Amino acid sequence: MPRSTPAPAVHHDLVLEPRDVQFDWSALPLHWIPDEPVATHVINVLHLLLPEGERWFVEVFKQALPMITDEQLREEVLGFIGQEAIHAEAHQEVLDHLLGQGLDPRPYVRQVGWLFRRVLGERPGLTAAQRRESVIERVAFVAAIEHFTAFLGNWALNSPGLDRAQADPTMLDLLRWHGAEEVEHRSVAFDLLNHLDPGYLRRVRGMLVSGPMLVHLWVRGARFMLAADPLLDGRIKPTWREAHLNAKRGLLPDLRLLARSAARYFNPGYHPTREGSSSQALGYLATSPAARAAAAH
Ligand SMILES: [Fe+2]
Ligand SMILES: [Fe+2]
Repeated sequence: MPRSTPAPAVHHDLVLEPRDVQFDWSALPLHWIPDEPVATHVINVLHLLLPEGERWFVEVFKQALPMITDEQLREEVLGFIGQEAIHAEAHQEVLDHLLGQGLDPRPYVRQVGWLFRRVLGERPGLTAAQRRESVIERVAFVAAIEHFTAFLGNWALNSPGLDRAQADPTMLDLLRWHGAEEVEHRSVAFDLLNHLDPGYLRRVRGMLVSGPMLVHLWVRGARFMLAADPLLDGRIKPTWREAHLNAKRGLLPDLRLLARSAARYFNPGYHPTREGSSSQALGYLATSPAARAAAAH
């Protein structure tokens, strides 16, 4: 059976700093990519999934903390927890704004919450060994999901199509600040998984569960948002063809590139540092209006 390459040395230069950003959504139009409701709502699925999803990451990583025997990795996990906690709240504020604009995201968010808390949450009554196993299994899911958040983050940092379409600058900053931090901390979950269990099978299982789950949640989320949009009256149904056309115009990620990127996760020699660019991410964080304002506090 193939095994992953030896657990890579932890990156001793990685210091993860939670940036306590604030965004003002009061002027955000419902279709924040003007006249592009499909692209707007496909990206809006991030706001539906991330508050519950990233709070779940934080819970899983807090449960993993006592199992970490490498001090540097422990510091990185703490930085990761700090960043993800802020991400969750930043996206939660967008959900609150949508509700104020007459688009009620709560029915879908309740389902996402049920999935993360009930299905993927901590089970009561486990032995110590079962509990450890359950934590590592969930770390494998997080590591696979973080492959996608880094892919999406890298896309957000390289998405001039959104600027050409005159997407709302505050939303672009949210997407790129968050995307940059995803690229910045893209190796932490994978390194944690390797630290707790370097086995290839666990990694593969994490992707085989998380990949299809994310696609399913995204398709349902996009359908939900388009149906719930009070300006559309249910007139627009998303199609794969439309997603493809939007991707060609640079408004959405290219699904073929996404599939190819997911396939790389199965490569035994895979490591997240080979995806995306840390220097580009840090370069954006140095110019992001929200990150600069947070640094000035
Ligand atoms: Fe995040
Ligand atoms: Fe992340």
